[in-house]
Amino acid sequence: MNKKALFRCALFLAALLVQPVFAQDIKANAAHGEKLSDQCVGCHGIKGYHASFPEIYRVPMLFGQGEKYLVSALSAYKRGERKHPTMRGVAGSLNDQDMADLALYYSTTRTPSHVAQGSGSAPEHADAALELVKKAGCQGCHGENFNKPIDPAYPKLAGQYADYLAAALRAYKTEGNGMVGRGNAVMGGIAKQFSNAEIKVLSEYVASLPGELETIPQKAFK
Ligand code: HEC
Ligand code: HEC
Repeated sequence: MNKKALFRCALFLAALLVQPVFAQDIKANAAHGEKLSDQCVGCHGIKGYHASFPEIYRVPMLFGQGEKYLVSALSAYKRGERKHPTMRGVAGSLNDQDMADLALYYSTTRTPSHVAQGSGSAPEHADAALELVKKAGCQGCHGENFNKPIDPAYPKLAGQYADYLAAALRAYKTEGNGMVGRGNAVMGGIAKQFSNAEIKVLSEYVASLPGELETIPQKAFK
């Protein structure tokens, strides 16, 4: 081998070594995800647990959420695209393998008897909500009844807590705040079409729909 070829060979090997780990190379391990979830139960393992920043609202249900979406959301906190400080701290300590393991655990662990349920109360302004849903074409992405997203990286929303949905939608509208906001171009454009009053109407409607999301307290497993 001449010197030039040797040099090229070395470059090639160096390139292999710095090859980023692509998501599709990761084999998720739900048992490891369950172990990691010990860090999450204090908030996501308590039914109706409230966060107090930037306002009081219930932390989102994660069990039954889509696997790809969970990875996507955790990565967005880690990159700082989603600014919620607690979740940035949590996600910042996770690597790609951890996120994949947690996502598999949360997406596949279900209460055997779980029946799809919404908030159980008919929203006060269902007709107005349906008008807004039609105007923005929400179901074109989040699917029929907000429970069958057209892309696995999009969230299931049906039955999620109304106050969380509203906080999330307002976060997509928020700009220029270091602690609050979500830099997602798609949802940013959509959320900005609505006033906070309309966001409340939309959120209560979506929360009332039967869906697969749930919170499973840890003691249910032990
Ligand atoms: C101290 C409370 C707390 C802890 C601990 C915590 N979270 Fe969260 N989590 C929150 C809050 C509050 C939100 C909503 C943040 C926002 O508004 O964007 C959230 C949001 C999320 C979301 C976004 C859900 C969605 O529908 O977009 C995911 C995913 C998530 N957390 C996963 C985890 C995982 C996995 C762990 C453990 C490794 C964890 N969280 C630990 C409070 C917590
Ligand atoms: C063009 C596709 C598209 C349309 C239309 C759309 N969404 Fe979304 N939505 C998304 C995507 C993608 C995300 C995930 C964004 C992210 O990663 O933060 C999302 C996220 C959300 C979230 C945050 C969920 C969570 O768990 O944090 C809410 C709430 C939401 N959408 C509500 C709506 C509502 C209500 C409408 C109609 C008024 C709507 N969306 C229309 C694509 C869409």
